[in-house]
Amino acid sequence: MKDPNHRITTDLVAWYHGEHRRLPWRDTTNPYHIWVSEVMLQQTRVATVIPYYTSFLERFPDIGTLASSDQDAVLKAWEGLGYYARARNLHRAASEVMRRYGGEIPRDAELFRKLPGVGQYICAAVSSIAFDTPLAAVDGNVRRVLARLFAVKAPVNRSSSGREFQQMANVLLDRSHPGDFNQAMMELGATICTPTKPVCGACPVADYCVARDSERVVDFPVREKRKPIPQYHVAVGVIEDGDRVLITQRPQSGLLGGLWEFPGGKVRSGESAEEACRREIAEEVNLTVEVSAFVGRVRHAYTHFKVEMDVFRCRYTGGEISLNGPTDYRWVVLEELDDYALPRANHKFLPLLRDGDDTA
Ligand code: ADE
Repeated sequence: MKDPNHRITTDLVAWYHGEHRRLPWRDTTNPYHIWVSEVMLQQTRVATVIPYYTSFLERFPDIGTLASSDQDAVLKAWEGLGYYARARNLHRAASEVMRRYGGEIPRDAELFRKLPGVGQYICAAVSSIAFDTPLAAVDGNVRRVLARLFAVKAPVNRSSSGREFQQMANVLLDRSHPGDFNQAMMELGATICTPTKPVCGACPVADYCVARDSERVVDFPVREKRKPIPQYHVAVGVIEDGDRVLITQRPQSGLLGGLWEFPGGKVRSGESAEEACRREIAEEVNLTVEVSAFVGRVRHAYTHFKVEMDVFRCRYTGGEISLNGPTDYRWVVLEELDDYALPRANHKFLPLLRDGDDTA
């Protein structure tokens, strides 16, 4: 009699062979394509990723093209996917693969793991799918599946639980078909063992599921309560000089790194949004401006915070640009904004600027 863990593994992989969704990155053995897909999928759902994956590979069909492209072009192709550090790291990693490995993605997982942005998950996912390396890839979906299968009490969202989940996945891993096994776990989490309303009746491993056996499926995964996410009130200025407006580039490191935006920042307590707009512009680009109109208020929820953004048209009144915070700037006409990667919240008010163009 085979042990139950072995049966979980074989049943799961057999189910995957029969039932998996056809997805663009499952029709390829090209490690670069698989890498791109896994980086995009790391924080983002399949349906969102598909069009980005396709257009990214049209624009950067091989790793050499990616490595020799400008970072701005890479961020532009990533615009709207979020977590832009993923794109900057992938771009840097591509250059490193060209420089150190002659354009061949290392099959040695230890070498691959050293590249920028290649953490334990990406390393295991890409190495297993592209090169059949026996490493278990554990993402959020996989943790949920494991939490239910084994009724795990450790919270899935606590970083110190990582080792426990990784060990469970290592034990189950199908060493002959590691890529299929990893994708089977992900697939089960995405299509059957879903966060709410899991479809246990269709689950290939329901018979082994400890949570189901004790009718406690909805009690798993255990989650630690998170702090409420902060909300910021920010003011931004669209500084006009004839038909051109000023955009600035955010520093490479940190939130929305490398993206372009209109200058502005947080409104301080006791300060009006208009005052904050003038102050932030003076601080960031050393210009004095007059606020000429209120464009509108937009709201956007990022993953870790929410913003309420008041947008003002501004008229330049004095000063010469010097940057304090932003790393670069451009004066552009509104149509040229399409060439720059901007954060989502900025995109939300662009139609207001374009509609109101006759006021300039
Ligand atoms: N999520 C992460 N990697 C995935 C993959 N290869 N297929 C489907 N969903 C995924």
